[in-house]
Amino acid sequence: MRVPAEFVEPVVRMFSKFLTNNVYVEQLGDPEDGIEKLNTRVSGFLPKKSNTDKLESNLKSGLSLFSGVFDLSEILIEEINSDVWEKQEFEPIEINDIQILPSKDYSLKEGYIGIVIEPSMAFGTGHHPTTKMCISLIKKYVSNNFNVLDLGCGSGVLGIVSIKYGAKYCLSLDIEEESIKATNQNSIDSNVKNIESKRMDLTQSLDINFIPEMIIGNLNSYLFKEGIKNIENLMGQNTIMIASGVLIENYKEINKLFIDNGLLEIDKQESGDWTALVLQKNA
Ligand SMILES: C[S@@+](CC[C@H](N)C(=O)[O-])C[C@H]1O[C@@H](n2cnc3c(N)ncnc32)[C@H](O)[C@@H]1O
Repeated sequence: MRVPAEFVEPVVRMFSKFLTNNVYVEQLGDPEDGIEKLNTRVSGFLPKKSNTDKLESNLKSGLSLFSGVFDLSEILIEEINSDVWEKQEFEPIEINDIQILPSKDYSLKEGYIGIVIEPSMAFGTGHHPTTKMCISLIKKYVSNNFNVLDLGCGSGVLGIVSIKYGAKYCLSLDIEEESIKATNQNSIDSNVKNIESKRMDLTQSLDINFIPEMIIGNLNSYLFKEGIKNIENLMGQNTIMIASGVLIENYKEINKLFIDNGLLEIDKQESGDWTALVLQKNA
């Protein structure tokens, strides 16, 4: 089915619930067409012996929950031979000089840095504008020998990107076990060794034994409000914090939250309805 890029993640999650390890995401046309267009295709594969009627009705009732929030195409169901499926081309996506490959079987486009992110229950296929902004800001601010903390790592995409851009080490945290598994697997598939992933709730306590030079949080306004004290406690004077996932309409409120907690905005990006801030401790 086709969905707007901004809403790929919940649809991937819904597909992954029923089609584990057989979900693919493709960008159709120009990603700059506008995030509200149905410009992304989510596809899944199920062996014929499975009960497809039950699957279809489960998927439809799950997806109907989303249809009040954003546009979705109809689900297209096709019967194909497995060799046809295997020969299908699923397009990798490019963000700056990073190419995100949906499986390790893909060959990398010349001149790109490749990472492998298999679509799964964990958020972070790279299609969402907030993830894309983080990738640009990591590239802009990361330095060799940085120790990075990736808060709400999802698929692990941002930690993996930080290492590919030169960071020495990344600790990736998430509240969901699925995200920890996905981060481990995607790190292996992307040939990245120096990432550790742990289950932790950033709103409770962040038990970290180093001062990160960079903190990345592609979260949301609620998590920033609940977690800011724990996050700020971990920051050194030079720590760079990338805070993405803030709706533009909430920007003023969240920026005030950061200021009230001793942080200063040093950079900002916007994409669609979303904003990403770069912060440091106010000297
Ligand atoms: C928007 S996703 C970001 C995923 C990925 N970093 C990316 O940029 O594509 C937010 C992530 O935060 C995680 N999360 C939600 N609440 C959390 C909490 N209290 N503590 C830690 N992680 C949390 C979710 O499970 C999800 O993986």
